[in-house]
Amino acid sequence: MNFNKRTHNCGELRINEAGQNVVLNGWANVARDLGNLIFIDLRDRWGITQIVIEPDSNPEAAKIGQQIRSEFVLSVSGIVRKRENPNDKIPTGLIEILISEIQILNQSELPPFHITGDSEVGEDLRLKYRFLDLRRQRLQNNMLVRSKLYQITHSYFYDNDFIEIETPVLMKSTPEGARDFLVPSRLHKGNFYALPQSPQIFKQILMVSGYERYMQIVKCFRDEDLRSDRQPEFTQIDVEMSFVNQDDIIELTEGFIKRIWKEILNVDITAPFQRLSYKDAMENYGSDKPDLRFDMKIKSINEIVANSEFKVFKDILESDGQIALINAKGCASYSRKQIDELTNFAKKYGAKGLAWIKLIDGEIKSPIAKFLTEKELKEISEIANLEEGDLLLISSDTWNKSLTILGALRLEIAKKQGILEKAKNNYSFLWVVDFPLFEKAEDSDEYYSMHHPFTSPKTDSLDMLEKDPYSANAIAHDLVINGHEVGGGSIRIHDKSIQEKMFKLLGLSDEEANEKFGFLLDALKYGAPPHGGIAFGLDRLVMILTGIDNIRDVIAFPKTTTGASLMEGSPSNVSESQLSELGLKLDLKKSADS
Ligand code: AMO
Ligand code: AMP
Repeated sequence: MNFNKRTHNCGELRINEAGQNVVLNGWANVARDLGNLIFIDLRDRWGITQIVIEPDSNPEAAKIGQQIRSEFVLSVSGIVRKRENPNDKIPTGLIEILISEIQILNQSELPPFHITGDSEVGEDLRLKYRFLDLRRQRLQNNMLVRSKLYQITHSYFYDNDFIEIETPVLMKSTPEGARDFLVPSRLHKGNFYALPQSPQIFKQILMVSGYERYMQIVKCFRDEDLRSDRQPEFTQIDVEMSFVNQDDIIELTEGFIKRIWKEILNVDITAPFQRLSYKDAMENYGSDKPDLRFDMKIKSINEIVANSEFKVFKDILESDGQIALINAKGCASYSRKQIDELTNFAKKYGAKGLAWIKLIDGEIKSPIAKFLTEKELKEISEIANLEEGDLLLISSDTWNKSLTILGALRLEIAKKQGILEKAKNNYSFLWVVDFPLFEKAEDSDEYYSMHHPFTSPKTDSLDMLEKDPYSANAIAHDLVINGHEVGGGSIRIHDKSIQEKMFKLLGLSDEEANEKFGFLLDALKYGAPPHGGIAFGLDRLVMILTGIDNIRDVIAFPKTTTGASLMEGSPSNVSESQLSELGLKLDLKKSADS
């Protein structure tokens, strides 16, 4: 097709260019036919420019102009001139293009939603018509930030002497915590590849191979239940280094985050970032990824109510549980109904109830006041720093549950009170360190690695591996920004015998360990250097940089929360012949039953 190619984009012309002949290409944003004038906003990735047709002097262009509808693809030629009614909302708002020639390069059906403006559109519709959604400015901006982040990542790690190496996408199934996505093999019928949950083992093997500093921007796949910050297919910035300790990894990361914030947000941030032990994070904030843009710490009141006759407290204390509270500042005005809503919210986290104490007009109000002594109330008020207008929320449960419940309430109150909204341009950077090596399953006596089985115990935890392994701590580090876990890593085990012990503690027999991880154990025999690293969730970084709380909005072609792609319709059936080539037969009735 012959068309006039652009001399400029739709975002760059200014009053200085008045009088110049230009050609623009793009999409018709809106067309307005006023009879004596036809206005069209022409849009491309770089911006919007107003074009104008004068039917009196250019009837031919007018004839074409009258046919133009939203999203038609155009090439326009004309002269830049000063606009009579400037638009100060767009950078090109002082000028317009008076058309000499206009070509319709393609037509468009009426789109199912507006491309311009921020009209609310149902997400399913946006996902089905993703090609149109991606035309909208909000998503274009997110993709731009994402792309900038790729560039900064490559340049930062390149500057620091890292080399990028691709690791396989078809690999052996070596579960890392989540469920694997499997790919059947045609040439080895009955056998499967797995898609990587992360390149963890490969990057460690690259350290054994002497690459010393590896990085990769890499897709990872996890078949897990999805949430607003999780996708089955997501992107990591994966990093591994040899001959380093934890501080080296932390320092390198802080430099990286500083560069990102400077180059994308023009924000100077200070390092080193705060560090909290896992234990302190849990005890003070009820989360291993606390949002530290606000305080609202959890306080245990076990000691204060140690002799309480209140049955709810007494039972919990007898079973070694915890009674703890947060102070929801200024929330004493919450109605009965609002407090019931908070109670129901807490119940989602397993709470059996939620007690509260208010201070209103100098008086304490609480359904549990009658169970508490003067002294207890006074001490509770003191520890909670209870002031006029405050609402204390109290949970009485097992240790972990009390913390989880109050941690969730802490965030909920911050949301309801507009604290998060107010803090939306603030950033809190935090390292959570000193994680336990193991974590016990809730519903069985099985233990799992809190990070992954390759994480090194702390040196002072080494003989605990013999005596009390499940109390050992790991040399692991999570990077938390504004309450999001943005990265996680550790120093790894490079000693084969410790790695074998770890597999044993995780319930793998020697045979199973060899079957699953034999290649790693083999590699550890041949001079594995001390090494460690970290992986960042690139999508989550983009979420924070763009202030968006839905991961799907920072990924060009995301999946829904049920793992479906509404645009191309995956996952989908495949033909009998495709299955038989792979030696597979479906037994859907059986799998539906199970
Ligand atoms: P981890 O499992 O903590 O560590 O993953 C690293 C980071 O990846 C991001 N992330 C996700 N983002 C979107 N959707 C998901 N489903 C998802 N899962 C994880 C998070 C997380 O912090 N191999 C180790 C890293 C290491 O030890 O070096 C690993 O994968 O931001
Ligand atoms: P009850 O004696 O069950 O009527 O409870 C008296 C008060 O204790 C009510 O305000 C309950 O909401 C509260 N309560 C009950 N169970 C718990 C719990 N597990 N944690 C905190 N408060 C509770």
